[in-house]
Amino acid sequence: MKFTSISEAMKKGKGNVAVRGWIYRERGSNKFKFIVLRDGSDIIQCVLKREKFEMQWKEIDSLLVESSIEIEGVIKKDSRAPTGFEIDAAKINIVAFAEDFPINKDINEELLGDRRHLWLRSRKMTAALKVRSTIMFALHEYIRKLGFVEVEAPSLSNATSEGGSETFEVKYFGKKAYLTQSWQFYAENIINAVEKAYAMAPSFRAEKSKTPWHVTEFWHFEVEGAWMNLEEDMKVAEECVEYTIKKVLKDNLKELEILEADIDFLKKVKTPFKRITYKEAIETLKKKNHKIKYGDDFGSAEERGLAKYYGNNFVFVTNYPLELLKFYHGEDLKNLGTGTNFNLLAPGVGEMVDGSQREPNLNKIVERLKKAKIDLGVSNWYLDSRRYGAVPHAGFGLGVERFVAWVCGLDTIRDAIPFPRTPTRISP
Ligand code: 4AD
Ligand code: MG
Repeated sequence: MKFTSISEAMKKGKGNVAVRGWIYRERGSNKFKFIVLRDGSDIIQCVLKREKFEMQWKEIDSLLVESSIEIEGVIKKDSRAPTGFEIDAAKINIVAFAEDFPINKDINEELLGDRRHLWLRSRKMTAALKVRSTIMFALHEYIRKLGFVEVEAPSLSNATSEGGSETFEVKYFGKKAYLTQSWQFYAENIINAVEKAYAMAPSFRAEKSKTPWHVTEFWHFEVEGAWMNLEEDMKVAEECVEYTIKKVLKDNLKELEILEADIDFLKKVKTPFKRITYKEAIETLKKKNHKIKYGDDFGSAEERGLAKYYGNNFVFVTNYPLELLKFYHGEDLKNLGTGTNFNLLAPGVGEMVDGSQREPNLNKIVERLKKAKIDLGVSNWYLDSRRYGAVPHAGFGLGVERFVAWVCGLDTIRDAIPFPRTPTRISP
């Protein structure tokens, strides 16, 4: 018989089916063996009656969880079964016996990390992986719909972009190289060729922070467009977010239920998101008793607080003081001393997207670099974007894991990526 996925078998709902996968749960008696079988699509209860399997009973009786098997039998509805269906098995083929599976409900977090490759078989992790896959695809899909061209940049370079102390240094044929922190320096040059560009790639940050919202290697969705201003930039960012959430709601309802995500909350997400300035944000925070003054950077409590105070929804904060910004962010000529920049804050997560209209003027950028005591050194090529036909332009970077964690309602972005890298974990 031809194998189908468990979910296809359940869709069929009656008659003969053949399925295969891994044992998710098992219990037995002298007369029966109940197996909950798991495959990539779902789980289903199977019952094996001893009277039908006398010859194989010893082996069947000794099957442990995560053994791989093939089962053929008759499927029918059964309200007592975990997913509402049961297969009365007529045939079983044991593909491979599993050893004692080293994950149970009492295992501590450290060991769970060591056994991450096995933990990914859990229903929640599998569900999160599927939502992540949808999110990745939707971001590619939507930004391409807007006419952006995917252009890759190297992960290895002899220069850094976002800040020296947070870079990983690697040996490079007797010289030093660094792992990329952002695609942006390349992007700002690339747009003078293709005008609208994007990338989906890992970025690396040697940050020691052990918060639930930081990993040392994250997937970065970065977008850059020639002729774009700040408002257009924010519009692209929020539309990507809205489109992606709609797509997850369409394709992953089952996974969202497994994850116990707040589906009603997701359904309410609607653009345009609220826009406030940094100055307004500071006033709101003061009213809510945060110890903060104009010029201070937000911590995660402030960022998450702001999303909460503004309708428990996404909120754009614009116009940060220039002193808090990188040299490449533009200055708002209508509000001198503040940037044409934004952070998109998500409820429960904080900063999810960071973007700006860039400083297009070579002299101004050189001045900003001097003020910040930055010597671009080997990265001086970056400024060629300003030397040969500079145009107004803007872009942003979205942290994919923060987005996935937000959509799935996860407590940490470490569960939004299959194999998280943190200051204390580089294996498996
Ligand atoms: O705010 P960041 O550092 O901005 C940039 O790198 C810009 N060059 C992006 C651009 O304009 N092209 O990073 C952008 C986003 C953050 O808002 C956050 O969502 C995510 O990347 N991010 C991290 N995610 C997980 N772990 C970390 N350590 C992260 N650092 C940044
Ligand atoms: Mg940032």
